[in-house]
Order: sequence, then C-alpha cells, then structure tokens
Amino acid sequence: MARLLQGSSISSSYLVEFEKTKNIPSRNFSSYFVHRTRNPKRIRNRYRSSLAVSSSLQKEEAQALVKQFDPQIPIEEAFTPPSSWYTDPSFYSLELERVFFRGWQAVGYTEQIKHPRQYFTGRLGNIEFVVCRDDSGNIRAFHNVCRHHASLLASGNGEKSCFVCPYHGWTYGLDGRLLKATRITGIKNFKVNEMGLVPLRAAVWGPFVLINFDKGSLAQQESDTDAVGAEWLGSTKEILSSRIIESSLSFICRREYTIECNWKVFCDNYLDGGYHVPYAHKGLASGLELESYSSTVHEKVSIQRCGGDSIKSEPDFDRLGSEALYAFVYPNFMINRMTRIS
Ligand code: FES
Repeated sequence: MARLLQGSSISSSYLVEFEKTKNIPSRNFSSYFVHRTRNPKRIRNRYRSSLAVSSSLQKEEAQALVKQFDPQIPIEEAFTPPSSWYTDPSFYSLELERVFFRGWQAVGYTEQIKHPRQYFTGRLGNIEFVVCRDDSGNIRAFHNVCRHHASLLASGNGEKSCFVCPYHGWTYGLDGRLLKATRITGIKNFKVNEMGLVPLRAAVWGPFVLINFDKGSLAQQESDTDAVGAEWLGSTKEILSSRIIESSLSFICRREYTIECNWKVFCDNYLDGGYHVPYAHKGLASGLELESYSSTVHEKVSIQRCGGDSIKSEPDFDRLGSEALYAFVYPNFMINRMTRIS
C-alpha cells in the first residue's frame, strides 16, 4: 500500500503557522461581516477607507520590492531574490493576496470528512475556514466566522449536526444556512436568508480536500474535480493523477512541525533536495543513488526523482523505497512517494 506521509506533504495551514505571528494584516474579513449586521453603511465605509489607505501603502512598498527582481536574468546568472522578499511584511501581504488567496489550496484529506456531519477547521493567513460534509454528502467550506459578532464557530475537527455559535447561540446548518438567530424579535431589516455562513469553493482531488479563497467566486460550490485538477495542476494534471496523486492513498498519520522561517525558505529547501541532501542529510543520502537524481520542471509542478535502496535505510524509518519521488505543486504543496514508479 502506498504511504501518504502527511507531515511532509501538506498544507496551507501548516505554512501559515510559520508566519502567523508576523505580517498578518490587522483587519480581516471577519470584522467586515460582523459590522454589516449593525450599521452597515457607516461602519462599512469607515472600514473600507482605513483599509484602502493601509493596503495601498503596502502595495506600493511591495511593488517596489518586486521591481528589485529581474526575471529576465538567465538562471545561470541569477541570485537569490532580495532578502526583503522573505522579511518585509508588505511583501507577505502581497503574497497572501496574489498567491494564496487566488487558486486552490490543499487543506485536508478526504478521510477527515468521510461521513456526513464530519468537519475540520484551519486557517490560511488571516482567514479561518471550516470544511464539512453535509447531510446530503456534499463537501462544503465556509469562513469559520459567525455572521453576528465574528466569533469562531467551530474548532479542531469532529462531528456536528449543525454549527452553534458559542457566543450568542446563532445556529447554522451544515449547508451554511442560518437556522436560528437568538433574541432578534423586533430587529428591523433582518433577512435570515442573507445571514448564512460565507461559502468558499471546495473540491476533492485524489485523497486531498482543496478550497479556493478567490473572492470572485465565493458563492460557488465546486464539484467538478476535472476542472479543479486543471486549474490547480495545469498541464501536469495527467502526470500527477496517473503516478502520484491517487485516490488509493491511505491516511496513516499526521505530524506537525513549526518552522521558524518564511514559507518560501521551506519551499526552497524542498526544491533543492539534490543539492543539500549529500551534505545536510548524510543518513538519507547513504540510501539514495544520488547519481540518478533528476529534477524536471513542468508548468506549475517540479518533480524530483532519485533511485533508492530501502535495505540501506534506517530500520525504524522506512523512508526509502526503490525509488524516491518528490512532487512540488506551486506554491506550497509537496508530496513524497517512495514506491517504484513505472
Ligand atoms: S457572535 Fe453572537 S451568535 Fe455568534
């Protein structure tokens, strides 16, 4: 049976953990949704004007940083990007907006929501999300934020027939509809149909659950896995689906690591495996046939391959099969397969 090493393979929520104490914009979607319920016009305008000033400043700073980098320089002459790309808060904000909130992110695995009413939660940047399987078997994803005063609705993972806000008891169905709002008698212009949880696009690819934070498609629930695969993996969809991302992969265990670095450092390290492994991981290197190491870059995907000899590997950590294969999907998703790939 192929082994899915969850700890080394995903995901967005882990990567954001690396950064969450720094660079996170202080305002978020949550405050916006909350304020809508009280005095929509006045507060929304105040929110928008202050956010517009701070985000335009940040954008200018970040764009100036981007200009420091010349993508036309041939790879043989290139240097590492400027250090500000790894340390400047405005650059990180730009990355959230342009990279992480546009496109698909693997956030979990299907076995977490195998049965109706199961759910799990996570966070990407400043966005809290909850993913569940509703009573009809559909996978749903929402901002994990109550529409009243922005309390978090759910935490961790488990099983629920509905989401009950722990603050004032508003209750939402697993399809996101507001089922009960406590003590609202006399409140004017309250439209229960407009106060459901804010949806995110959700989809499954192989054993992974993906969500899409693109604000342009918030109202859409996604079920077309072919379209999702094409959007997420680009032209390498076929290669990955036939050789790497298989529904038959089974969940074994989850390990979490907190790494004190910018998320790109972690990705850089993953992608230069053939370079650093002989020096930094001598134990692993002794089980690899490094002369066979190769890296192939496809559209959004990098695939590193190396022959391995499981007999030489550490007995308690069967990391090597007869071939090691490391797939990286832009921007931050990594899959290690240790089987013979034909
Ligand atoms: S914050 Fe008041 S019910 Fe959720």
